Amino acid sequence: MYPNEDFAGAEERLREFLIQRFGGPQHYSTKRGHPRLKMRHAGFHIDQRGRDRWIELMEAALEEVQLPKEVVPTLKAFFHEAATFMINRA
Ligand code: HEM
Repeated sequence: MYPNEDFAGAEERLREFLIQRFGGPQHYSTKRGHPRLKMRHAGFHIDQRGRDRWIELMEAALEEVQLPKEVVPTLKAFFHEAATFMINRA
């Protein structure tokens, strides 16, 4: 679903969004404006299965990077809630 020709760009947008969302520098909005994530995802077919797969991959990534363990529940809760909100197809 992610753009093959701009995978590095997609990674950078997600990274800068997450940095901003959790209190870091606002580089995402400087480049992209207000996040409006639901709207930006509207063009992609996101159903329950896609949402669950996205979570599975994001949790594998969390496992891989070994962040301080006290921040992991906060990130997981955000991912679960936001990914459910992104569902736009039955
Ligand atoms: C916690 C949930 C999620 C967050 C925080 C998130 C965040 C983002 C952000 C910040 C972008 C870049 C928007 C832009 O500036 O254009 C993006 C793009 C995208 N997202 Fe998500 N997303 C989430 C869930 C999902 C899910 C569940 C899917 C699909 C199963 C998905 C698929 C995509 C795709 C295909 C793009 C386009 C790649 C790009 O051009 O950046 N996202 N997402």
